[in-house]
Order: sequence, then structure tokens, then C-alpha cells
Amino acid sequence: MHLGRTTLSKFLIENISGTQDGAALAALLVDVAAAVKAISALSAKGALGGATGTLDTINVQGETQKPLDVLSNTAFVNTFQLGGLVAGVASEEMDDPFPIQPPHTRGPFLAIFDPLDGSSNIDSNVSVGSIFSILRAPETGEPVLQDYLQPGVKQVAAGYSVYGPATLMVITVGNGTHGFTLDREVGNFILTHPNMQIPADTNEFAINTSNERFWEPPVTRYIGECKAGKTGPRERDFNMRWIASMVAEVHRIMMRGGIFMYPRDTKDVSKPGRLRLMYEANPMGFIVEQAGGRASTGRERILDIQPDLIHQRVPVILGSRNEVDRVVHYHAQYDAGSDQPYESPLFNERGLYRP
Ligand code: AHG
Ligand code: MN
Ligand code: MN
Repeated sequence: MHLGRTTLSKFLIENISGTQDGAALAALLVDVAAAVKAISALSAKGALGGATGTLDTINVQGETQKPLDVLSNTAFVNTFQLGGLVAGVASEEMDDPFPIQPPHTRGPFLAIFDPLDGSSNIDSNVSVGSIFSILRAPETGEPVLQDYLQPGVKQVAAGYSVYGPATLMVITVGNGTHGFTLDREVGNFILTHPNMQIPADTNEFAINTSNERFWEPPVTRYIGECKAGKTGPRERDFNMRWIASMVAEVHRIMMRGGIFMYPRDTKDVSKPGRLRLMYEANPMGFIVEQAGGRASTGRERILDIQPDLIHQRVPVILGSRNEVDRVVHYHAQYDAGSDQPYESPLFNERGLYRP
């Protein structure tokens, strides 16, 4: 039992119920938590719950679906339809957003989600998760596609869950980033990580280096310098991780810092990045910024991007702010045709750390 500890519901009542539509937003986030608990239970059953293996359906992203992709999508859609707090939903697993229709009632928000992130990891029993973003719905009428295409700065809430050794839910409503751990026996999310802060500096990077030959020069430069370690211009060793579950990657960065990159590459020129703006980059960007980190494409703050398409893909570089700033600087130098060494006062290898 966790007597005296803060449940997610209590946290939301105390923090947002007094704000505009705050009570409705609090209720909506409790609904999200209910869907997360359902998906957590399903994923924990593994092969016993029929959640492993591959389906013969291909989603709008051109990816073969897993049973858990579909089950998780259904869990979110049903929760939002029955909850009466959103006017429409959009999902990575659905071709188009759809408005909530009678007999269900509409609420003041739009819910956008990646129901199951990292689904290539399900059969190997590696952590997966869910990602969600909450926007305001238009005040009247049925939401149309354009209503969803709001830049990330307009998000009123965002979060992710991780289905790992423990099930966690990490959320922001714009007043910091806060983490909750599921007490499985009792069924409550308990506030275990208030005011999470991403360390500004890090020695750890996460990138899929099998794509190296497709990267742009500023990314090759940055990763090359990390790999050169003590004997390179950074004069210190770096460590690398790649889980292939963005949620698990971001959560590690929340806990101990790091930089995560899925940069622009030329592997498929029709896609300017791997990750999706609305379901992955925007909610994670909001969460990371609220924890003192940065989220950029390399050339633009993620949250400032005006979306054109619901399934739009973007380059993503996020995490510890001094490292993200460095990568952004490398992009700016490259675009300006300059090959000067990095001259940040904090990291000026020639000035501060070299005689
Ligand atoms: P999803 O399972 O929702 O399609 O997302 C997978 C994403 C992300 O979680 C991860 O960082 C990346 O794709 C992995 O890509 P690679 O398979 O190219 O490593
Ligand atoms: Mn994903
Ligand atoms: Mn997914």
C-alpha cells in the first residue's frame, strides 16, 4: 500500500483542476491512464495473451502491424470514444483522424497517439510503450483534418508510458515533467518521479548507426567525434545505446541524460526522417523541454514546426541540452558552408579546456 503517497488522480486534481478546462483535462488523463493499464496488462501476458507474432495487415505508415499495435489502438480508441472528453482522435495506426460520433459525446480536446511504440521489440520481450498528445478541439462543430495540424507548442498535455520491468507513465501538462509508477496489485499510478530534470551534459548517445552512410555531414561529424572519444576533439569517452523503442530511449534520457537522434537521412528520400511529428516528435519534444532538455530537427525546434500532414515525418534530435545545442550548431555551420571548430563558451575545446 502507498498510504499518503500521491496518486495520478490526486496529482491532477491538485495541479490542473482549477485551470481552463482543467477538470476535463484531468479526467481525460485518468482515461489515458486506464488505457495504459489495459495495454500494460496485455503486453505483460506476452505469447499467453496472443499479443506476439505478426499480422498480415500493413498500416498507413507502410509497416506490417503486430497484434499489440492493433489491440493497443483499440484500447485507446474505445477509451476516448466512451470517455466523452475528446472531439476526435488520430493514431499512427489509422489512415485518417476521425470525429467522435453519436451516441458518444464530444469533449473539448483532440487526442493523438502512437498506441504502441517500439513494436519491433514485442516478440523479443524488450520494453515498448505508448505516446500521446492532447490538443484543444475547435469550440464548435466536428473537427476536420486541419484542426489536428497544430504545432507542438499548442499541446495542452503529452506523455508516454513504458511497459518494461515496471509500467511507468510520464506526463506533462506544461508545469514540468512528472513520472508515475504503476502499483500493479492495487492498480494505481503513484507519483514516483516529480519534476524530472534531464542533466544538461551527457556522455551517452543513441542512434541507429547502421544508417550512417545515409546521414548528413553534421550528424556524421558529431557521432564521429563521440566515437573518437578521449583521443578526439571531445577529449572524453562516450557510450552508445540503441533500444529501437523511442519511449525506452527517452525514458533513459529522463533518468540519466543522453542524446537521442533519428536524423534526416537519404535512405528513403520521400521521408525526411523516421519518426512521426504528431505522435512521436511533438509529445516527446514537449516532455523533454519541460524536463529542461531540448528537441530539434537539427535546424528547427520541433515544437515550432507547422504540420502539413497528419502522418508527417521529421528528423528528431533530443535530450541533454548542451549536446543537442552542439548538434544544432553543427547543422548551422554546415548550412553556412563553414568548417570552423565549435566555439560555444561552455565547450570550447580550444579556449576553455585547452591551453
Ligand atoms: P513504432 O514501433 O511506433 O513504429 O516506432 C518505432 C520507432 C521508434 O520507437 C524507434 O526509435 C525507431 O522507430 C526504431 O527504428 P529502427 O528500426 O530504424 O532502429
Ligand atoms: Mn513509435
Ligand atoms: Mn507505433
